[in-house]
Amino acid sequence: MRILGIESSCDDTSAALIDISDTHIQVISEKTFSQIDIHQQYGGVIPEIAGRKHAEQIVPVIAAVMQDQKTPDAIAVTAGPGLMSGLLVGIEAAKSLAYLWNIPLIPINHIDGHIHSVLLPEQGAAPTANIQFPALCLVVSGGHTELLLMNNHGDYKKIGSTRDDAAGEAFDKIAKMMGLPYPGGPQIARLAEKGNPQAIAFPRPMRDMDTYDMSFAGLKTAVLYWLQEHGTKHHQSYTLTEPQQYDVAASAQEAIVDVLVQKTIRAVTQYQPKQVVLAGGVSANMQLRIGLETALRVPLRLCPRKYSMDNAAMIAVAAYYAQEKTTASLQHISASPNWKVYEAYQPAS
Ligand code: KG4
Ligand code: ZN
Repeated sequence: MRILGIESSCDDTSAALIDISDTHIQVISEKTFSQIDIHQQYGGVIPEIAGRKHAEQIVPVIAAVMQDQKTPDAIAVTAGPGLMSGLLVGIEAAKSLAYLWNIPLIPINHIDGHIHSVLLPEQGAAPTANIQFPALCLVVSGGHTELLLMNNHGDYKKIGSTRDDAAGEAFDKIAKMMGLPYPGGPQIARLAEKGNPQAIAFPRPMRDMDTYDMSFAGLKTAVLYWLQEHGTKHHQSYTLTEPQQYDVAASAQEAIVDVLVQKTIRAVTQYQPKQVVLAGGVSANMQLRIGLETALRVPLRLCPRKYSMDNAAMIAVAAYYAQEKTTASLQHISASPNWKVYEAYQPAS
């Protein structure tokens, strides 16, 4: 079946048309308008501006994807979690189209979408490689860091989560202190390639504790202290020599990856999943990919790196598996900014 996915929960306005069955999957067309350039000057996403940009871009983005295409069989839209200002734009556009075309609208949880990104092929059509259950999902993005046990599509149990900053947020905040542009994850990863990950012994809070919860705020503070001691303050950030930049980036990345890998290993030992799914924006990080690949004795499911960041194709894939379980009628589908994927399969209405 052909599903039109729509995603606008943060700073990407995205639409994608996929063709999916139990045997094959293909992204037919896709388009994403990234707002990164706009939010970069503020050092983070400004909800008010994000909403306005989504409103401007949603029709051109959907129009580009649906050009020369016949009416899809269903529409999937991110209903939460995320910024209310962005969610509303995607949902209202999706509702209008579903009403006009008289096709079902499937509300999708953004995290459920990220997890299903591992089914997406790099390009062209590919066999559908469904997730094997139970699966352990490590979701690492700008707003979420969670270990979830997935017993079926939409059936999640939370095992652990961060008690403060998300892993992506830690990357972003450390980058900001170093005067690097938003989003900081790719910047830190790029600098880290030239640095020594053992150069600075940054802390790994909670790594060895008997819990799947994590904490990254202490790492951020430790990096700040290091910068205060070794760097030169310039406006809100610290200037370092190039070698220092490389080593701080490599050492901070190592600390984050180490905690994520150790917690995942511990959870695999206890829950014995058939597969581990790595998802969310931080899943683009090569050190994290390599670290898990090397450490795990169960198959690791990764998405093509271009689908690590927010995109609508993953929302459409999740909808294929959610369609029979979601029952909300059009007028009852609404934005649910705090929707937790492990609490409900449908947004609260
Ligand atoms: O999933 P996502 O696109 O948006 C949210 O739902 O939050 O994730 C964005 C996050 C940002 O914090 C960004 O810095 C991080 O993913 N990120 C990375 C990398 N690429 C993106 N973090 C580390 N290494 C990367 N290569
Ligand atoms: Zn995301």
